Amino acid sequence: MGNKLPWIIKYRPKSIEEVVDQEKAKEVLIPWIQKWLQGSIPDKKAALLWGPPGTGKTSLVEAIANEYNLEKIELNASDFRRKSDIERIAIVAATKKPLPPKRGRIVLLDEVDGLSPRGDEGAITAILELVKKARNPVIMTANDPWGQHLRPLRDVCLLVEFKRIPKTKALPYLMKICEAEGIFCEKEALSYIWEKNRGDLRACINDMQSIAEAFGKITLELVKTMIVERDRELTPWEMLQALFYAKYAWQAKKAITSVDLDYDTLFLWIAENVPRQYGDDPEDLWRGVEALSRADVYYGRIKRKLQWNLLPYFFEALGPGVALAKEKYHRRAKWSYPEKLVLLARTKEERRIREELASLLSRTEHVSKNYVKAELIPLLKFIAEKNPSYFAKLALGLRLTDEMIKYLSRKNYKLIIEYKEKLLKELEETTKSRKSQETRGKVDESESKTPLKETASGERKETGKESKGKKSDKSKKSKTGGLSLLDFIRKD
Ligand SMILES: Nc1ncnc2c1ncn2[C@@H]1O[C@H](COP(=O)(O)OP(=O)(O)OP(=O)(O)O)[C@@H](O)[C@H]1O
Ligand SMILES: [Mg+2]
Repeated sequence: MGNKLPWIIKYRPKSIEEVVDQEKAKEVLIPWIQKWLQGSIPDKKAALLWGPPGTGKTSLVEAIANEYNLEKIELNASDFRRKSDIERIAIVAATKKPLPPKRGRIVLLDEVDGLSPRGDEGAITAILELVKKARNPVIMTANDPWGQHLRPLRDVCLLVEFKRIPKTKALPYLMKICEAEGIFCEKEALSYIWEKNRGDLRACINDMQSIAEAFGKITLELVKTMIVERDRELTPWEMLQALFYAKYAWQAKKAITSVDLDYDTLFLWIAENVPRQYGDDPEDLWRGVEALSRADVYYGRIKRKLQWNLLPYFFEALGPGVALAKEKYHRRAKWSYPEKLVLLARTKEERRIREELASLLSRTEHVSKNYVKAELIPLLKFIAEKNPSYFAKLALGLRLTDEMIKYLSRKNYKLIIEYKEKLLKELEETTKSRKSQETRGKVDESESKTPLKETASGERKETGKESKGKKSDKSKKSKTGGLSLLDFIRKD
């Protein structure tokens, strides 16, 4: 299941209508494109789509290219650094006719805010040159286009704002994906996912897929376990994006310090995804893992010896160390939840039952919980495996719940429950017949009251003994909770 196509690719909108919400952006962008297609050149030859991540900027450009049958010529952040690449694209952008059956061209410069204020000025000039020469629509995208260095680009662009996807639009869309995947999904769970990702559909879909692949369903309970509170700036997915695409040490450090994860979980997220991101280049991977290992050594010392003064070194290794391990550009990989977190969530239920079992048996057997876990649970498992009928009696005597029985023996669970029910029935019948005997005894007693008066005192004593016997029986019952189960088992 893990190797399946990422849902964000599988369900990427193919038409403009499929792009959820963003009506205002469409109202501005579509007439602008149509103007190009009708052969006239609009005032602004470039458009800059800007807004939060995962809101459909790149998707809308792709949908437009699809719907209007346009050839999409794309440059992404890593290519912006090379002036020669921009110039190569500029030539294509300036020539009008694409190869048939394509109707026209569209140039996409994705994530221009990746250009740095220092060092990439040449690239900005080259892009401006490209726009000047272009005879096809040029579209740029950015999360934050307000940097001073991007001003020349803003000036030549039609600015199109993208907003976070509102809940009312996002939920039906996410629900449709679940339906298409045949995954059981609670509406409240999706609502929770949406809130935690603050309208970032990419992150929502990634969260959904991770949970669905690990558990086969998406419930509120699972979602709450898997998605941590994210009050700070970045979600873990955004942190990975910012970290793996950081060009400078400060960007990497900012990424890992702007996410709301404790240090252990932060490390797990990065360690899980370094091999995924750098896996196609052994040298980059080696450097990435080296950096992780250094971070781990520092963190080990911090935890063991409480040397908190080492914390900056931990951050250096985990942030810039990992980010700058790459020498070549890597496409965005399919990132994933830390396996360990998935495992902990998956075994959460089992761990809870084990804990309950430990506290029950430690109370009844007067031993420590650790002793129960180390000695009694393995013993009970062994008995359940080898002798289910005997185990059923034990289960009754020890008052194990059905889920505890299931935990102790998945294989013989059904058999044990059958035995247990049979035993309970027998027990009920024994109790019933005992009760009816008792009441019959009482009736006999009352019936024989007058004659008793007349009988010898020796016989009266006999009756007294009987009632004493009953009393002690009663007190025994109350000790075992009214059922006298252990007696019953022992008798057998
Ligand atoms: N408005 C939307 N309608 C439908 N799907 C969307 C929308 N926005 C995002 N998605 C989903 O999220 C994925 C990523 O979206 P997209 O690449 O368009 O985001 P973006 O706005 O370009 O983000 P970034 O700023 O990080 O580049 C898409 O493949 C799609 O599955
Ligand atoms: Mg994008």
